[in-house]
Amino acid sequence: MPYHVYMETFGCQMNEYDTELVRTLLKQSGFAITQEQQRADVVLLNTCAVREHAHSRVYGHLAEFRAIKRQRPLVVGVLGCMAQNLKKELLDTQPVIDVLVGPDAYRRLPELLTQALLHQEKGLAVDLSEYETYESIVPDRTPGVNAWIAVMRGCDNFCTFCVVPYTRGRERSRDPHSILDEARSLADQGYKQITLLGQNVNSYRYENWDFAKLLVAVADIPGISRVRFTSPHPKDFPPALLEAVAWHPRICRHIHLPVQAGSDRILALMGRQYTKRDYLTLVEDIRRRGADIALSTDIICGFCSETEEEFQETYRLVEEVQFQSAFIFKYSERKHTIAARKYADDVPDAVKTDRVMRLVELQKSIALAKNQTRIGQSVEVLVEGNAKKSDQQWMGHTEENITVVWEKHGTICAPGDLVTIRVEDASPSTLFGTWLPE
Ligand code: 5AD
Ligand code: SF4
Repeated sequence: MPYHVYMETFGCQMNEYDTELVRTLLKQSGFAITQEQQRADVVLLNTCAVREHAHSRVYGHLAEFRAIKRQRPLVVGVLGCMAQNLKKELLDTQPVIDVLVGPDAYRRLPELLTQALLHQEKGLAVDLSEYETYESIVPDRTPGVNAWIAVMRGCDNFCTFCVVPYTRGRERSRDPHSILDEARSLADQGYKQITLLGQNVNSYRYENWDFAKLLVAVADIPGISRVRFTSPHPKDFPPALLEAVAWHPRICRHIHLPVQAGSDRILALMGRQYTKRDYLTLVEDIRRRGADIALSTDIICGFCSETEEEFQETYRLVEEVQFQSAFIFKYSERKHTIAARKYADDVPDAVKTDRVMRLVELQKSIALAKNQTRIGQSVEVLVEGNAKKSDQQWMGHTEENITVVWEKHGTICAPGDLVTIRVEDASPSTLFGTWLPE
């Protein structure tokens, strides 16, 4: 009987992708994957360290595993960014953990799990690598419409708030030929939408390939309906990438462009390497090239020493740009980062929360107004599966990445189809419509 492994994933799409890589590595070594935690000999948490909230959730799960371990043998593994960031300290303070493995050391996981299962040995592998891209490992994906491909790993930007350069190490790009082989094989397997992932895709370099060239090559693969990417950095947004988004029919007209803050003093403290004016100029360039290209962003509220006036600059920037959507976060000090070492986390928690709430309300009203302008229009939607709230409804996204929901009854749709939906109603996050026959 093979040992059964149950996995849970927290955090970003890169982590989802890594979980798929880990599944392949485990299967190759004779482990079986189970969806039922009760059946598992091994439970693995693939963790995130970007905000404290992500840590708290992991501690909750570890408490659960401690209770199970009193009843029966169980090997507990913690993978990913939290493992990498806290290293041995986590192993020492959480005796429930048997194995701790960082994002560049997954090839060692099967061996460490075997030692833990057979000899009750603790295992720690948190070396970062300058080369590891898991190039030859084909991820064990969940069948469906969407697939992700990591085209690069790590980050060299060292934004002062961000833990990623410490947990995922230095930037390295994967061979474009292996990426294209993988994308062609995804098309053959029936996947319709591919998202290319990297912490900062603008830095993608491999011989004479840059990211725009790679994106176009992926979008040119027959059988793929849509290609997306995340995320570019505003400081060095390549004109060729904007061109590709603007003209290529299968590259989605949506750019996720994290701004983080609207005050130049805060942007400088964050080490973002652009000013508010630079960002707004880039937005103008994008809109001039394609007025309908949707923009989304990430914003941090309450970064070290941020004043009310500085927050209001962020607020005004959001009003000015009119993003389609925004992820808005409270600043959360992360161990080892430059901000944790150099600046005081001195904005009171209640003030951070208040700023987040004000910005969320603003963004909701912007998104609602934008979505309402679509009522009466027809939009093209990639059918992805059942709606979250009802299996009587289909759900998909527009090119701009707006969620669309419609009744299944009387429609001829299947996941993977591109269909036309007439928009009847809108909320800040969703368009509701009816299916139009071809
Ligand atoms: N606190 C709050 N938000 C953070 N992010 C990254 N680090 C932190 C932090 N320490 C946010 C940024 C980034 C997104 C992925 O997470 O907005 O773009
Ligand atoms: Fe973090 Fe900045 Fe790198 Fe993004 S670009 S992963 S925010 S250091």
